[in-house]
Amino acid sequence: MSVRVAAPRAEAGISELLGGKRVCVCAGSGGVGKTTTSAAIALGMAAQGAKVAVVTIDPAQRLANALGLRELDNEPHRVAPEMLDSAGVDVSGELWAMMLDPKRTFDELIDRLSPTAERADEIKANRVYRELSSAVSGSQEFTAMAKLYELDQDRRFDLLVLDTPPTRNALDFLDAPRRLNAFLEGPTVRALVRPTGIGMRVLGRGASPVLGALRRVTGVDLLTDLGAFFGLLADMTEDFRTRAAQVEKLLAARTTAFVLVTSAEREPIDEAIWFHRRLAQVKLPFAGVVVNRVHHDLLSGHDSEDVRRALSRTLAPELAAKVAQNFRDYHVLAGRDERNIARLGDALGGHPLLLVPHLDEDVHDLDGLLKMRRYLFASGEEREQLIANMVA
Ligand SMILES: Nc1ncnc2c1ncn2[C@@H]1O[C@H](COP(=O)(O)OP(=O)(O)OP(=O)(O)O)[C@@H](O)[C@H]1O
Ligand SMILES: [Mg+2]
Repeated sequence: MSVRVAAPRAEAGISELLGGKRVCVCAGSGGVGKTTTSAAIALGMAAQGAKVAVVTIDPAQRLANALGLRELDNEPHRVAPEMLDSAGVDVSGELWAMMLDPKRTFDELIDRLSPTAERADEIKANRVYRELSSAVSGSQEFTAMAKLYELDQDRRFDLLVLDTPPTRNALDFLDAPRRLNAFLEGPTVRALVRPTGIGMRVLGRGASPVLGALRRVTGVDLLTDLGAFFGLLADMTEDFRTRAAQVEKLLAARTTAFVLVTSAEREPIDEAIWFHRRLAQVKLPFAGVVVNRVHHDLLSGHDSEDVRRALSRTLAPELAAKVAQNFRDYHVLAGRDERNIARLGDALGGHPLLLVPHLDEDVHDLDGLLKMRRYLFASGEEREQLIANMVA
């Protein structure tokens, strides 16, 4: 049976794309499979002998369990070799995994950058900080990258695979350090921090009846908290800038690879095309695209009427018609995927596309990761064979 694959395919698997790399960033739109792809890449690279850590963000509970991740303690844990053995995974390297706790990473960053421990405690206890560390747009992405930088500095791992947060727009991720910095250095903060700024003036009028009333009603002394917070942070913005610059340098290094993950649906594909263009503009190293959850044409060449006829020999006519309808729907989906993937292939001008099929079940355990790994690490020819077997 012939298998039609629409786009330029990767002749090599992901391990060739990651040759000589120390950092792999899996980025893409929400819900396309970034977390599972990151875990499958890490598993496959560890199987080949590397010491790999995957930094995941908000993995599904069952996937976290499969990786033995029970606590959010912000440090990588080794996935127990016995666990891998019992799942039949032959890992000659080491697989480590951690769940990123953005709040905690931000706290650690404050600890590291504060001139004194007391100052760090004051900042962390501040109500505004507690809100800011989770609310400022980009802070989650920023902390993910800050953690990446720290782990990279440790030199404990051969490869770090970074999962990225579910951003509304995949491009937000790249702008995160800059946005956070812009916020910290922007007019709002400066106005509050300057001795003669509005913040200080307002704070000076602590007896203002309006604020007093607010405080009485809400119990929140917002402006005092806000002013105090930015006052505390004032002499740290330089350090934030330095850290953001270090992170940017790491992301741009020759030893870093961005792997874009997308599904074959229209919008994520559009975003992947956009993201790829953006990476080139800002000169960040792009390795390839994983097109996940691809529907391969199960009918390829057959007529659904033939399918119905064949099925009705063994199934009740109604059921046979239903199954044939399913085949037809799948055929339509496969056609749509094929066109979207071709569009992506055109836009990428020959860059490798690694196609991973839509599997029958969610990927929530080592078995599922192993299935994904097979497709990600196969050479072009092997991948075609795998798909042919799936379709047959
Ligand atoms: N190839 C696949 N076949 C079937 N199910 C898949 C496949 N890849 C991922 N999934 C499932 O799709 C869902 C989303 O995957 P995942 O959590 O990895 O996406 P994500 O991009 O990390 O999402 P978010 O942006 O919310 O973080 C999960 O339930 C996962 O098990
Ligand atoms: Mg995810």
